[in-house]
Amino acid sequence: MAIAAARKAYAPYSGFHVGAVVEDELGNLHDGCNLECASIGLSVCAERTAIGRGLSRGARRFVRVWIYTPTSKPTQPCGACREMLRRFSDNPEVVLLCDGRLIRRFRLRELLPNVKGEERRTS
Ligand code: THU
Repeated sequence: MAIAAARKAYAPYSGFHVGAVVEDELGNLHDGCNLECASIGLSVCAERTAIGRGLSRGARRFVRVWIYTPTSKPTQPCGACREMLRRFSDNPEVVLLCDGRLIRRFRLRELLPNVKGEERRTS
């Protein structure tokens, strides 16, 4: 499903076609692809497109995300997507898929540590 979503990517600037699927707590799956804009900062990653798709269907918590990139090794999600996933999940499984044989699995807390119960430090 993530690979099929990547085929729908609109990525004329990077040529990097990414697909993502998020699973909500009811087991429903929501897919997304990246979409780009000439103003590159406005581009949206596949993960956030998938989250938006889930949210617009009423989902609020996600338990797992699969991310496919057309690379020989898995690609880590960007910081913005980690933050957005954190907002709508507790500690979901993050599965990284690519064209190579390696599949990597993380929990979000491994990718975004020290987000809960930590005192903020200003220096
Ligand atoms: N991209 C994603 O959609 N997800 C990732 O995890 C990595 C990067 C997209 C954003 C941009 O459209 C293109 O890949 C190049 O960075």
